[in-house]
Amino acid sequence: MTKRVVLKPQNLEFIVEEGQTVLEAALNQNLAFPHRCMVGACASCLCRIESGAVDYDLEPLLTEKEKQQGWMFSCLAYPKSDLVITFGDE
Ligand code: FES
Repeated sequence: MTKRVVLKPQNLEFIVEEGQTVLEAALNQNLAFPHRCMVGACASCLCRIESGAVDYDLEPLLTEKEKQQGWMFSCLAYPKSDLVITFGDE
């Protein structure tokens, strides 16, 4: 099942196919999504989930507090639902 992701603050929307990470899907759709290592090491792709949930094959290194705040590694995250994510601070 595909999932819909809205990227704030620009409100860009893209589709994530089954088996794709959020980052892969964004890059496939030519969005300028920050990234470098693609393996959860550099933290360039960190963004915050405003709504929705993701799953990981390999749990990234996030503290409980960071998880509660919604931080996500886009290069490792598989959406479990439609998502709203942000690079903004609010
Ligand atoms: S691209 Fe490096 S942690 Fe995601």
